Amino acid sequence: MSNILLAVSGGIAAYKSVELCRRLQDQGHEVRVVMTASAMEFVTPLTFQAISGHPVHTELFDLAAEAAMGHIELARWADTVLIAPATANTLAKLVAGFSDDLLTTVVTATAAPVVVAPAMNQQMYQASTTQENLATLKQRGVRVIGPAAGAQACGEVGMGRMVEPELIVDQLFYPHSELLAGQHWVITAGPTREQIDPVRFLSNNSSGKMGYAIAKAAHRLGAKVTLVSGPVSLLPEAGVTCVKVKSALQMQQAVMEHIPAADVFVACAAVADYRPVDFVTQKIKKNDEHLQIQLVKNPDILQGVAALPSPPFCVGFAAETERLEHYAKDKLQRKNLDLICANNVSCNTIGFDSDENAVTVFSRDGESVTLPQSCKSKIADQLVRLINKTMS
Ligand code: C5P
Repeated sequence: MSNILLAVSGGIAAYKSVELCRRLQDQGHEVRVVMTASAMEFVTPLTFQAISGHPVHTELFDLAAEAAMGHIELARWADTVLIAPATANTLAKLVAGFSDDLLTTVVTATAAPVVVAPAMNQQMYQASTTQENLATLKQRGVRVIGPAAGAQACGEVGMGRMVEPELIVDQLFYPHSELLAGQHWVITAGPTREQIDPVRFLSNNSSGKMGYAIAKAAHRLGAKVTLVSGPVSLLPEAGVTCVKVKSALQMQQAVMEHIPAADVFVACAAVADYRPVDFVTQKIKKNDEHLQIQLVKNPDILQGVAALPSPPFCVGFAAETERLEHYAKDKLQRKNLDLICANNVSCNTIGFDSDENAVTVFSRDGESVTLPQSCKSKIADQLVRLINKTMS
């Protein structure tokens, strides 16, 4: 599809770039690899050569390499230059316009778009020099993917991990938009888990796919996004702040923490309606023929947000198996929402745990818009645009 020059600088995340190379090829791209001297301390050129199927470029002054494909030809060949991992040092060199090795020379010489996936120790990432360098690069049109938060190879925890390869590939070619610039969206997703004893819980079939797709769509349209997620096996889009929770009460607490700064609240989570009154601290034994677990109603997170003195724009979901319109409109009114998205979960090709959805969106003024069956990412993009249009 396109020519991608994968430029690897010297961080421990270089090992993930081997996987990145493979995934780019899986998408049909032609990949050539440039490595800095310090990158070769972490991964050998032979590894990238074996994976990419081409010799790896490492030297600026290498007669044999220059004869085959010189640095200017490499710079011209690339449709995109992807620097992953991009170390603090490489970012600084790019800002200053250094051309003292092959990577920086190719970047200076290319007219292709440059994308960087920073990876470094969290303190190095927070350093004002790094932050200023990233801001400068963004101003110059360089796309920055990540970094992500989490445990680091150095033993610390924080922002600075390279975004996972599949997410870099996913983000690489989407058109950037500023439609929602300046807006903060808080989105809930997935099921909640209501613990009965240390090994058992009550939950439901929600996969989180719809909520994650909405978070991704809002982020790609330029919003700041906080995703409050129940237990699911999905990776959030790089750049989306993900707060992981388990129970409805934890979800409520996380939502309330972020709501004061929110412009939009999309409640996509399938929050468990009830939780056990008591948490039994030891595993319940199967001694009795009948077992009673007393349940108590969980707070309605969405209703609580919509009842705040100055609520954000509130969007709910109504997953129903019958009388869709009737129940959806009832929820819209009862919970005092701005919009409600109704979907039919009795049909197993859409809704819960499937990759497709179809929704009808009802607004306060009685208007409705139907988004016909499609993949969840398309529905999410249409829905986010519809929310934005309705708000303004
Ligand atoms: O009442 P019902 O659960 O069908 O309402 C669904 C909508 O309300 C969804 O948007 C869901 O995320 C939200 N909700 C909530 N807290 C609950 C129950 C539902 O935010 N406890």
